Amino acid sequence: MSSHVPSRSAAPADPPIPAGGPVLELRALTRTHGSGIAEVHALRGVNLSVHAGELVAVMGPSGSGKSTLLTIAGGLDTATGGQVIIEGQDIAGLGQKGIAALRRRSVGYVFQDYNLIPALTAAENIALPRELDGVSVRKARKEARAALEEMGLLEIADRFPDEMSGGQQQRVAIARALVGDRRLVLADEPTGALDSETGEKVLALLRSRCDQGAAGVMVTHEPRYAAWADRVVFLRDGSIVDQTLTDHSDADSLLTSEAAK
Ligand SMILES: Nc1ncnc2c1ncn2[C@@H]1O[C@H](COP(=O)(O)OP(=O)(O)OP(=O)(O)O)[C@@H](O)[C@H]1O
Ligand SMILES: [Mg+2]
Repeated sequence: MSSHVPSRSAAPADPPIPAGGPVLELRALTRTHGSGIAEVHALRGVNLSVHAGELVAVMGPSGSGKSTLLTIAGGLDTATGGQVIIEGQDIAGLGQKGIAALRRRSVGYVFQDYNLIPALTAAENIALPRELDGVSVRKARKEARAALEEMGLLEIADRFPDEMSGGQQQRVAIARALVGDRRLVLADEPTGALDSETGEKVLALLRSRCDQGAAGVMVTHEPRYAAWADRVVFLRDGSIVDQTLTDHSDADSLLTSEAAK
């Protein structure tokens, strides 16, 4: 067990006290697909607040609504009901262009299936959102190389996605989500394709971004990765059924809660 307890030597002992309101607030969020007999309630009234400095893990069985929650929180899908408030702004009032600008500037998103652009290299994939947001090509490429170096992937900077392993693609997608001043990082199973050592490194990086002031939400199936979070939210059939504060000195409490499902 002890090998699964994250070492947080690089992180402060206590999470910073959140200043101001939450970075992300979900209020009575619902999402229904289809209608009539084919109706699927992917989310049934989810409330969740995530402050700067906080990392929240979302766990739950397949189909419980984890990806739906994340895509709506990131403005990639629209809720059927309820509100998504990012840094005090209800995103419904921003319009398509406003939401796109907010996503480019403030939201880092790691997709469950990576979503790298096949015609761009690793470095270009990471630089693209920054260039679209007005950062000079030169600066964006420099940042991209630094982000790849942080991931231990500098040697694949000029490779295209189909020349990378699944784990490399996943890490490039994570680098893309973390580059720049992202105040909200949403990661859908960011460690799914990684071996446990690389997975821990990615979690350490995500944790350190949150310790520096970002708010993070991460979907995971692995209790040992969830143990890096400040809080774990359990979803079942589109509802939050449990929330656990993680005790970083002992991941067993989390494992027990998970096993009780
Ligand atoms: N476009 C869609 N049309 C109809 N139903 C959908 C659609 N997208 C998702 N769903 C349904 O909504 C529910 C929640 O899906 P979601 O992808 O959020 O689950 P998940 O918890 O992320 O699962 P997994 O762990 O497998 O990734 C599921 O029942 C799914 O079948
Ligand atoms: Mg999913």
